[in-house]
Amino acid sequence: MNWIKVASARELKNDEAKTLNVAGHGVALFRVDDEFFATDSMCTHATALLSEGYVEDGCVECPLHQGRFDIRTGKALCAPVTVDLRTHAVKQEGDDIYVMSP
Ligand code: FES
Repeated sequence: MNWIKVASARELKNDEAKTLNVAGHGVALFRVDDEFFATDSMCTHATALLSEGYVEDGCVECPLHQGRFDIRTGKALCAPVTVDLRTHAVKQEGDDIYVMSP
């Protein structure tokens, strides 16, 4: 497992997200309260990209059926999602954001 540079901090404002390809794996990178977090990019319920969801209070709401996840922990918070999201380690060095390869 390696740290992979995936973005610059200035690319995302708070409560924004983007989808990344990290070593062939879909990852969503979120900025919450000036910290960065990464989860699998795909909702655990069906086929929807969580980076296109609504981010508020450290949670992301899936754009397809409005299931919600805790961005920090990946925990599924409300129906219809029941399976937690996988999370990925993130570190910041200066303006550079790294994600641990899945
Ligand atoms: Fe995300 Fe259904 S696809 S809640």
